[in-house]
Amino acid sequence: MTSTPLQDNASQPVVSLRRVTRAYGDGHGTVVALDDVTVDIRRGEFTAIMGPSGSGKSTLMNVAAGLDDATSGDVVLGGATLSQLDDNARTTLRRSQVGFVFQAFNLVPTLSVAENIRLPFELAGRRVDAAERQWIDHLVRTLGLADRVGHRPSELSGGQQQRVAIARALASRPAVIFADEPTGNLDSRSSREVLTLLRTAAREYGQTIAMVSHDPVAASYADRILVIADGRLVADHGALSPQQISDLLIGFEVGAA
Ligand SMILES: Nc1ncnc2c1ncn2[C@@H]1O[C@H](COP(=O)(O)OP(=O)(O)OP(=O)(O)O)[C@@H](O)[C@H]1O
Ligand SMILES: [Mg+2]
Repeated sequence: MTSTPLQDNASQPVVSLRRVTRAYGDGHGTVVALDDVTVDIRRGEFTAIMGPSGSGKSTLMNVAAGLDDATSGDVVLGGATLSQLDDNARTTLRRSQVGFVFQAFNLVPTLSVAENIRLPFELAGRRVDAAERQWIDHLVRTLGLADRVGHRPSELSGGQQQRVAIARALASRPAVIFADEPTGNLDSRSSREVLTLLRTAAREYGQTIAMVSHDPVAASYADRILVIADGRLVADHGALSPQQISDLLIGFEVGAA
């Protein structure tokens, strides 16, 4: 598909996968983790990616973010086709366009909360400007971390650590945030806080978010639900209730290898 110069940039997808396949290994041991997937992650939307264990959700996220290479097909991130970039260019693009939130928080233990949140700027080799400092202060306050900025991650609860990870992802206003099971290690109250925060970031700040989750309650916070089974995209829905999502998933758990 060709894009025309008249098209509004705001309506362009942030990430496009075009017939993307990712196979691991070769010969008899080949595992096709992603099988001919075509999908857009749309700007300003909170998208949930669901599916059985081993269905290819993390692979989809890693390939879409340029952390892993597609075996065939194209990934377009922030207007650039990833396969046409060398490793350095891809790393630079990722640092400017993508934020990550993982199940295991991935905070640097030796850095304070404030230093962890500023890490993406350090990695990109640039200073936090005045507007960004205000934004970070706003995030820290909104996330209830104001009295924790000097603490180390080990001094925080799991929910607080995940809020720091989300503040870090939001701080540089990346084109897209990928979150892989961000509530996987949290109790239900902390999960609700984190999910509300992600939804608010999409609705109020226009932040594009793609979240991998097994949990129908978590996915019910999203604007859109994608289901992957055996490496293929098998469902693409608007917002659904937890019950509707459970019903949708039941059809795909059965028969999944
Ligand atoms: N580095 C790798 N080498 C070989 N096979 C891999 C590799 N990474 C993933 N796979 C395989 O690809 C398939 C998809 O894995 P993936 O991690 O994307 O699943 P997932 O949907 O994220 O599962 P889960 O819900 O358990 O996290 C699995 O069969 C997995 O074993
Ligand atoms: Mg996974």
